[in-house]
Formats: sequence, structure tokens, C-alpha cells
Amino acid sequence: MILKEILNIYHKELDDLFGNEEVNSFFNLLIEHYLNIKRIHLVMHPNYTITKEEEQPLFEALSKLKLQQPIQYVIGETEFYGLPFKVNQHTLIPRPETEELVDLVISNFKNQNSSALKILDIGTGTGCIAISLAKYLVNAKVCALDVSEDALKVAKQNAELNAVDVNFILDDILNPDCHAELVSASQDYDVIVSNPPYVRNLEKTEIQPNVLNNEPHLALFVEDDNPLQFYKAICEFAQHSLKDKGTLYFEINEYLGGEMIQLLKSFNFKDIELKKDMFGKNRIIKGVK
Ligand SMILES: C[S@@+](CC[C@H](N)C(=O)[O-])C[C@H]1O[C@@H](n2cnc3c(N)ncnc32)[C@H](O)[C@@H]1O
Repeated sequence: MILKEILNIYHKELDDLFGNEEVNSFFNLLIEHYLNIKRIHLVMHPNYTITKEEEQPLFEALSKLKLQQPIQYVIGETEFYGLPFKVNQHTLIPRPETEELVDLVISNFKNQNSSALKILDIGTGTGCIAISLAKYLVNAKVCALDVSEDALKVAKQNAELNAVDVNFILDDILNPDCHAELVSASQDYDVIVSNPPYVRNLEKTEIQPNVLNNEPHLALFVEDDNPLQFYKAICEFAQHSLKDKGTLYFEINEYLGGEMIQLLKSFNFKDIELKKDMFGKNRIIKGVK
């Protein structure tokens, strides 16, 4: 079949859902992923024909997109901070806001001797934060934990894919009794960073159906009456596992900036800074012990 005809079918089936431009960009990603063909090839060879076998993954992808599965899950990968990451239904798709968190940590430490740095990422998912920090703060010793064994499998693949060494630990940050491996890995982190679950159930109405129906709820949601549960547990953990003058970095719920400042103050963190993301929303907070 002529590849361009398949593009026409994509537009017919998907434009109402996503709009013409988005469908073009999905198609370009898919032909590059499955056929190793760049967009420009399609422009220069409008009659380029593919075999039945080559068609099949494109039609399978079309069915998944019709069900509003995110394109990153359809192709099983995405890009974060310029690096490739595998994703699946057990891992949150890394967001651009989180790249800003990573960028802040890197810019705070890039001029220091990173060989002495010990970093812990809590709730690592794909490993995007831990792996990017390990990649760009060369020689830092990076640990990362998650309660999901399935997410950790993906994170380990991603560390290999990006040729970095990260110590991944299965742990529940809400359960202080099971931190043995974490504490023995290092009792004195210089940096603790986390993008924990922070969306309240009451905010579900603001969440796009493709997120709600596909991304792991374990990674997203917290109870309305205890929205800072993870932040409190991490601040408590930091009391004994973050070095004096060590820094805590969090990605946060845009509506809870004030509450987060109060929380960090109540744990005696100093030099607290609340930062907005590229969309002008309160998204990152840091504090020094
Ligand atoms: C918002 S996602 C962040 C994933 C990744 N760090 C990122 O920024 O894309 C939160 C992560 O916390 C993990 N998580 C949820 N409950 C946890 C718990 N009790 N202990 C440790 N990790 C937990 C989830 O499995 C998920 O991977």
C-alpha cells in the first residue's frame, strides 16, 4: 500500500479526536519508529509503497490511538531531558515540568565536584530524574526507589539504555519499617529529589481522559484529606538521611505551594524557594536542611 494513503486513513480516523497537525506528528513518529523513515522521505517520495508486513504495526497503532492511548505508550518510548526512555503502562510518562526540576538540580551542582555527591530520587517511575542526574552530574552516586516492581524493571532498562549506573531499590516511602536497604545504601544524601503522587481525587475532573484511562493511578493520585502524605513522609525520612546543609527538591501540586512552604518550615528547612514552571504554575520547591 502507498504510505501516503495510510496517512490519509489516519487523518480520516483521528483528526476529529486530535486535530490535523497532531495526527501528522503521530504519523511521523510512527513511521520513524517502525519503518525508520523520516518525514522528509514521505514528502520527496509521495508514492513510496510499503509491504503488508510493514503496514501491520501502523494499523495496530491506529487502533490504539483511536482508544486515546498516549503515543508514548503506543511506541513504548519517549524523550526526557534529551535522553531516550522506555515507558509502559506501569510508568508515568515523564513530563516537561519534571525536566525543569532536573535542570534546577543540575544547574545547582554542575560546578561542584559531583564525585562526592550522593543523590536519592524517591518514586522514580521510568527513572527519568535519577538517570538524567547520573548522566549530567558525572560521578555522582545516584540511588532511586519505587514501590512498583514493574516500574523498577523499566527504570533498570533505561539506566542501561543511557549507560549510567543507578542503584535501584524496591521500597515503600510511606512505610518507615522497610527502609533498611535504603538507609544502608547511604545514610547521608546530599540531595533528595522527588516527584511523588500529588493529584487529589477532587482534581480528577481536570485530568485529560487519555491520562486518566491509561497512566498508573499509583503514580498520580493522593487522598483529598491527606494530599501532602508523600511530602511529609519524605521530610521525615530526610530528618535522618539528608546531610546537614543537604538539599531537598520536590515537584509539587500547583495549588499547594503555600501548604508546601509551611510543611518545609515545620521541618526546619531553610532557604526555601518556590518556583514556577514554564506555564507560570507553582511547580517546584526546594529547601536546605
Ligand atoms: C508522579 S510519579 C513520578 C515518576 C517519575 N519520577 C517522573 O517524574 O516521571 C510517582 C512515582 O511514585 C511511585 N510511588 C507511589 N507510591 C509510592 C510509595 N509508597 N513509595 C515509593 N514510591 C511510590 C509510583 O510508582 C510512581 O512511579
